[in-house]
Amino acid sequence: MKELNVGLVGYKFMGKAHSNAYARLGMFFDCNAKVNMRAICGRDENWVKQSAEKFGWEGYETSWEKLVSREDIDIIDITAPSNTHKEIAIAAADNGKHVFCEKPLALNLSDAREMLDVAIKNKIKHQIGFNYRFAPAIQLAKKLIDAGKLGTIRHVRASYLQDFITDPEFPLVWRLQKDICGSGSLGDLGAHFIDLSRFLVGEFKSVMGMQKTFIKSRPIVERMEGLSAQANADAPRGIVDVDDGSVFISEFENGALGVFEATRFSAGHKNDLSIEISGDRGSIKYVFERMNELQYFSADDAEGEQGFRLIQASEGVHPYMQAWWPVGHVIGYEHTFVHEMYEFINSVTDDKPTSPDFSDGVECSRIIEAVELSSQRRHEVEIASL
Ligand SMILES: NC(=O)c1ccc[n+]([C@@H]2O[C@H](COP(=O)([O-])OP(=O)(O)OC[C@H]3O[C@@H](n4cnc5c(N)ncnc54)[C@H](O)[C@@H]3O)[C@@H](O)[C@H]2O)c1
Repeated sequence: MKELNVGLVGYKFMGKAHSNAYARLGMFFDCNAKVNMRAICGRDENWVKQSAEKFGWEGYETSWEKLVSREDIDIIDITAPSNTHKEIAIAAADNGKHVFCEKPLALNLSDAREMLDVAIKNKIKHQIGFNYRFAPAIQLAKKLIDAGKLGTIRHVRASYLQDFITDPEFPLVWRLQKDICGSGSLGDLGAHFIDLSRFLVGEFKSVMGMQKTFIKSRPIVERMEGLSAQANADAPRGIVDVDDGSVFISEFENGALGVFEATRFSAGHKNDLSIEISGDRGSIKYVFERMNELQYFSADDAEGEQGFRLIQASEGVHPYMQAWWPVGHVIGYEHTFVHEMYEFINSVTDDKPTSPDFSDGVECSRIIEAVELSSQRRHEVEIASL
């Protein structure tokens, strides 16, 4: 059997999620290659060594430059913050490695385009980490929409609400610094519903947005882990130069209208991603925290029996479910990463395109940039103008 050796950059939140995905893949799915977790990379030797041992990597590197030039690596997976994506992905692609990169693809649209061009030039397989596409209810929503069950789509409503920075003393982490993350709530959270909307409904035509930074300075961070962070009591403050909250409306190429909201200032909402799509024959409602369930209304149901029904979306129809557990044994967040890795590994072994790839990353960056421009200029921006 063919073997594929992976090198992963980053060992924290997404580093752990991706490590888990590679570790689970061969146990549950039949791939056409054996996937070897060859090396994990981070700058701090002590931490990266510990992570390699804990997550099951054969070895580690402290320099991504060394990792991407290793002869024994076939795939580079990037889970470091967004300011590193372009340089690592381009170096990896130029070395002939296939590249999986977390979202958002890059700090801005022009960098994202450059990454796509280099990937195409080097004929490598490339995928972006829009993992929410792989949740059971989203896969079912896609099937229903593609089968025409919603009729002509008229409205899209999506929001992604968190609350981890509501405290003005929450430290200045990298997610609040433009030179590292590129964009605030919009790039961090909005990127996901932009991608889901493109996946389910189609391309955006124009957007009109408004963005705001509520807390303009914060204490410099000392330690961070996942979405938690601490600063020292006497820490100096630094400037927050990204959006804390973003809202925008849009028109889609197919004529549908969209309303969107991304914020990390919505008290009580922990990871509240939701999307509703309404057509003239039906509607769907999806909430990530109940990702195994889809609410579906059909105007074709008999009069007197109409109403939203709750479908257990992991049963029967979910394309990845047979690899997991018997019926009724639902799956969770970490499984979405295994599913995306399954598609990526298949694209490498079977030499076929995968989805979502860097071109989806470019489109997402284009919409993010259009919302930012629109917010600055206070008028509608046509996506085709960028
Ligand atoms: N798909 C999703 O749902 C999702 C969720 C969270 C984050 N993300 C994305 O994943 C990426 C990482 O986010 P995170 O939350 O895992 O961040 P994190 O801060 O938890 O981890 C970042 C990791 O990158 C490492 N790193 C930073 N600079 C490096 C460098 N120059 N060389 C090597 N390693 C370096 C850090 O040591 C750390 O291990 C971001 O692009 C983010 O937008 C995606």
